[in-house]
Amino acid sequence: MADIIDGKSIAAQIRLEVSEEVKTLKSAGIHPGLAVILVGNNPASEVYVNMKGKACEKAGIYSITDRLTAEISEVELLEKVKFYNENPAYHGLLVQLPLPSHIDEQKIIEAVAPHKDVDCFHPYNVGRLMIGQPIFEPATPAGIVELLKHSKIDPAGKHVVIMGRSNIVGKPLSMMLVQKRPFANAIITVLHTAAKNMDDYTRAADILVAAMGKPEVVKARMVKKGVVVIDVGVNRIPDNNEKGYRLAGDVDFQEVSPLASAITPVPGGVGPMTIAMLLKNTVKAAKLSN
Ligand code: GUN
Repeated sequence: MADIIDGKSIAAQIRLEVSEEVKTLKSAGIHPGLAVILVGNNPASEVYVNMKGKACEKAGIYSITDRLTAEISEVELLEKVKFYNENPAYHGLLVQLPLPSHIDEQKIIEAVAPHKDVDCFHPYNVGRLMIGQPIFEPATPAGIVELLKHSKIDPAGKHVVIMGRSNIVGKPLSMMLVQKRPFANAIITVLHTAAKNMDDYTRAADILVAAMGKPEVVKARMVKKGVVVIDVGVNRIPDNNEKGYRLAGDVDFQEVSPLASAITPVPGGVGPMTIAMLLKNTVKAAKLSN
């Protein structure tokens, strides 16, 4: 049976370290601050933004969630971004995605000051990540690397197969794990919808990262025995419980876990790590500002 990689407890450990660092910074007169902009009322975004605010509070980070109507114009949103860029109380600034379709998401991402870009979405920071000189690392991929580190699973020389080429997970993770440095130096395959025989690729994975956003599509036949499975999926499946849905990963946990040497659960795997790494980036931004 596979080792279950406990993201919840690893994230708790990181959050504790962050709180200690915040205390030290505060005693030096620096109070780390994060501004989060939420446009509209996408239910999943609401949940994420609330979790970010609560996590900041627990860590002693000052944070604000600026909730804006879905009808806001692009110009008005750019003004908001400018306001937080110029406000020294906020060392980190993030705009929760997705944005309403009348707003050019890329334009907003590029308006965030690179030194406050704790999401690591700005092309300046993406470029630095690519050449192995990051200031920030994007939270979810950084959380995945931390999970591997804490589980003593070194990707060096291993074949890492990443399912999904998003700008938030697949592409940046491939850039991070390909670098010639400790806990990287991997051989990477990035899979996407154009792959004809998906199973041929996934079966060749030593470490399989599922980040397609499709519920339970990774099945037992698609993996080799001893594989390490990192499930990034957070999918809502209709259910008769009080919430009306349950969370499912991109991996069929029941089928795949007996074959894996280690696997992340959903929930309680990658998800909690994303928030912990965001806090880390906010503290880093605060340090950089001084
Ligand atoms: N939407 C889904 N994931 C993320 C994230 O990591 N950051 C932001 N800003 N929006 C998201």
